[in-house]
Amino acid sequence: MGVTLGIDIGTSGTKTLAIDASGAILASASAEYPCSFPRPGWSEQDPELWWEATKTTIRAVLDKGGLKPGDVTGVGLSGQMHGSVFLDANGKVIRPALLWNDQRTAAECAEIESRAGGRESLIRMVGNLALTGFTAPKILWLRNHEPENWAKVKQVLLPKDYVRYRLTGTYASEVSDASGTLLLDVANRRWSKELLAKLDLDPSLLPECHESYEVSAKLSKIGADATGLAEGTPVVGGGGDQPAGAVGNGIVRPGAVSATMGTSGVVFAHTPEPGFDPLGRLQRGCHAVPGAWHVMGVVLSAGGSFQWLRNNLGQDAVQAAKAKGIDPYELLTNEAAQVEPGSEGLFFLPYLTGERTPHFDPDAKGGWIGLTVRHGRPHLVRSVLEGATYAMRDSLELIREMGVSLSEIRLSGGGARGALWRQIQADIYGQDVCTINASEGPAFGVALLAQVGTGGFSSVPEACDATIRVVDTTPKSAKNAAVYDRAYPIYRKLYTDLRSTFKSMSDLVSG
Ligand code: XUL
Repeated sequence: MGVTLGIDIGTSGTKTLAIDASGAILASASAEYPCSFPRPGWSEQDPELWWEATKTTIRAVLDKGGLKPGDVTGVGLSGQMHGSVFLDANGKVIRPALLWNDQRTAAECAEIESRAGGRESLIRMVGNLALTGFTAPKILWLRNHEPENWAKVKQVLLPKDYVRYRLTGTYASEVSDASGTLLLDVANRRWSKELLAKLDLDPSLLPECHESYEVSAKLSKIGADATGLAEGTPVVGGGGDQPAGAVGNGIVRPGAVSATMGTSGVVFAHTPEPGFDPLGRLQRGCHAVPGAWHVMGVVLSAGGSFQWLRNNLGQDAVQAAKAKGIDPYELLTNEAAQVEPGSEGLFFLPYLTGERTPHFDPDAKGGWIGLTVRHGRPHLVRSVLEGATYAMRDSLELIREMGVSLSEIRLSGGGARGALWRQIQADIYGQDVCTINASEGPAFGVALLAQVGTGGFSSVPEACDATIRVVDTTPKSAKNAAVYDRAYPIYRKLYTDLRSTFKSMSDLVSG
């Protein structure tokens, strides 16, 4: 069996890797790009950046791995979910894509709920509440606010599906990412004609929708010339970054749950049934595994809060780390390790781009509360790691409340890399946590899906069993967990106490 590529179109960069039939990583490459925040609450990116990064990283992987075009027998695509790429009749991008953490669509979410006949009816059709980051409210926002652009739109694609279009010339998606559009009938794994009609949206705006392992299209001559891959190479459906990352973490059966700290933080559980919560407290979607679904809770700025701190208060650490050839996060985390659990009463709210689970509040704001003269940067850093982790615990608690089986927590993303943040997670989650041999998350997950789709393995669980194993466990410390159990209700109360103040702050900024 051949080599497959996994390509993950992230928010801060694109990562591409190549694996062989045993799941061994042969080469990987990444390329970074910026995100733009043109107004408070807005978050956009030019899709051309993704395409440029895709071309660069594919060529780099072929080069580093000593691979010839014909060696690659399949490609899998993953990427940031919920983004909206608007294309005209010639397949040209009309305006920058609105991203998953964009918060401008509160009015459109209300419009969707009302057109759908209320929350319960919406959840019955598409499994989810209308959340500001989802794709459908973005489509309505364009229709309501930029009619001249709306008049040109003939196709709406998710970020990774735009890259598929550039590689193959085909408009296609798959069920796991499509679940995050709010336009998929999640239980039946097909577009919801019912909701599309209620929203007065033409179904032809959406591409055909596959299962994640299925071959969706083949590389075109243009795609082949641009990347150095062979024309005709199959491209499988792939997956949204969270479901694909879950495959890459081996979360393909009930019991194991993943806690991933990327820019966003996500707690993800596999479920054997679509299962509906009438309150829509967690996101529901199709898993990238046929016949399986997922629930997830999303913290919008988890690793993103740490990145913000590094960029704004850690420039000296960035310089020092550069001189030593190490990661600035390592230096900052070493500082945090000097401080006791609980950061001497200092709390950080990580709502830097509003919050999704559990508050669904675009107006929520970040902040430190509890500062005293005794606190210094080590406390600031530790409280950021703790605040992001309390926010993740909010989702974990909901998953526990819903009775979803939770026997093992697998960590991934930046939050799995340092021993301190792993320990903080075990202690705040109140459960041992583990890491696995594969740390490449979504890119690895879709490279495995490409193996399945091109005959390398007979099923996704079989591919995971053959390639993924737990390598390290961080036991919870009963002493620290007791400290965090006392602190967590205080963290919870801060948002409740401040909710209306956050709204007044937004009103102040928007005039
Ligand atoms: C998932 C979500 C984010 C993005 C970006 O619902 O919004 O995790 O996929 O990574």
